[in-house]
Amino acid sequence: MAEFALPANSKVTEGKTWPAPKGATRIKTFKIYRWDPDSGANPRIDTYQVDLDSCGPMVLDALIKIKNEIDSTLTFRRSCREGVCGSCAMNIQGTNTLACTKAIEDCAGDVKIYPLPHMPVIKDLVPDLSGAFAQYRMIEPWLKTETPPPDRERLQTPEDRARLDGLWECILCFCCSTSCPSYWWNGDRYLGPAVLLQAYRWIADSRDEATGERLDALEDPFRLYRCHTIMNCTRTCPKGLNPAKAIGEIKKLMIARR
Ligand code: SF4
Ligand code: SF4
Ligand code: FES
Repeated sequence: MAEFALPANSKVTEGKTWPAPKGATRIKTFKIYRWDPDSGANPRIDTYQVDLDSCGPMVLDALIKIKNEIDSTLTFRRSCREGVCGSCAMNIQGTNTLACTKAIEDCAGDVKIYPLPHMPVIKDLVPDLSGAFAQYRMIEPWLKTETPPPDRERLQTPEDRARLDGLWECILCFCCSTSCPSYWWNGDRYLGPAVLLQAYRWIADSRDEATGERLDALEDPFRLYRCHTIMNCTRTCPKGLNPAKAIGEIKKLMIARR
């Protein structure tokens, strides 16, 4: 059997522990991945004991409390606190999700928090998403038309508009792409479920007039066809979307136009 060894500097070590304040009765333990590229030290897992009686109900509330009251060096992204910006995507209890919509009471035992998997880490829980956003730019995510603009909006029937449901709600959190084994191994060439769902959002838009051009750009052994319908993406999407289905729709259109 093949055996693999991690390079010494990538081994995750046991970090510091911050005990709960005196008198706390409802204590929850958070084990959080920490890595600071400037320190030269290995990544570590720090342990924080949080008094839930003075903490909001979501995992993001606990992270904010830790940063404000216990350890200001803890680094993570967040903005909206209500599941619409996608900034707080991270791996909690082994699943990619949004910290602001994940309830602490739904986490059994210690809460284990890591950055989104298989992405370079900038610091602590902050992944480097510049490659993923470069792929997003590649699909030209805007309405493309050739016909002259009408005097008013470009109208859609209610049925045409309904075809965008399940697509427009995507917040580009990349929970799906970072749970996809094909994206882990071929993320430099495979576009991944988040970007492909976004590509289909424009292909499915009745007002867009660049469908052929968009399909041409995806007709490639890696960009689209590295999806093997493993479905991790759909299982993990915190918005309840189905990127695997969107990818299947693109593949159907590819076959239909042959
Ligand atoms: S269905 Fe496709 S995109 Fe989704 S996880 Fe599987 S391989 Fe990745
Ligand atoms: S499809 Fe879901 S998991 Fe993927 S980027 Fe969009 S909202 Fe996030
Ligand atoms: S903070 Fe915006 S989605 Fe969580």
